[in-house]
Amino acid sequence: MSQGEMKQKAAKAALEFVETGEIIGVGTGSTVNYFIDYLAEIKHKVEGAVSSSEASSDRLRSHGIPVLNLNDTGTLSIYVDGADESNKHLHLIKGGGGALTREKIIASASKRFICIADDSKLVDVMGKFPLPIEVIPMARSYVAREITKLGGTPVWRDQFITDNGNEILDIHNLEIVNPVELENDLNQITGVVTVGLFAKRPADVLILGGKDGIKRYD
Ligand code: 5RP
Repeated sequence: MSQGEMKQKAAKAALEFVETGEIIGVGTGSTVNYFIDYLAEIKHKVEGAVSSSEASSDRLRSHGIPVLNLNDTGTLSIYVDGADESNKHLHLIKGGGGALTREKIIASASKRFICIADDSKLVDVMGKFPLPIEVIPMARSYVAREITKLGGTPVWRDQFITDNGNEILDIHNLEIVNPVELENDLNQITGVVTVGLFAKRPADVLILGGKDGIKRYD
């Protein structure tokens, strides 16, 4: 079974969290693309979606699902999104697709964060996947120097501009043994917009697709 098929299984399993009449939060990435396509089959159930990226908004609209502004919706019942890595506490690394800031905003504004992924994303200690950090462009080199002092190796994601007009540093060589503390420390660096560690606000449910079916952690 391919990784895509495992992602697809996890995406389908998330449909059970969609309740009638709700506005739901929708993230970004290949796993979420499967979720959006499944959501289209039950689109009469939802009033609309708040999306974490222009790419997901386009896909939602292409299925006739209204895309709404978070400022108009209030708290969302669920947020469905993928991850680059997760530990067993449902702390996540996100931002491989560069949408981490809007993802963190919507996750924070949602009652339940349903994370969907293939089972290769579950790890004991996070950090093998380079940690994305969105930075204000003029602060990029300064933030990179500060991160080096903390032991990480920042790599500029060249030619990439976020939906918010900012840049991304991908931090290599981290062994994230205390995700909450690291998230706090990185958030203190001036010029950092968003750290792609979701530890202070982890997922509430993790659905992993694998060759033997679905595993759910909550
Ligand atoms: C985008 C993300 C994605 O959720 C993450 O990169 C996982 O992507 P995929 O579902 O394609 O494996 O954080 O910013």
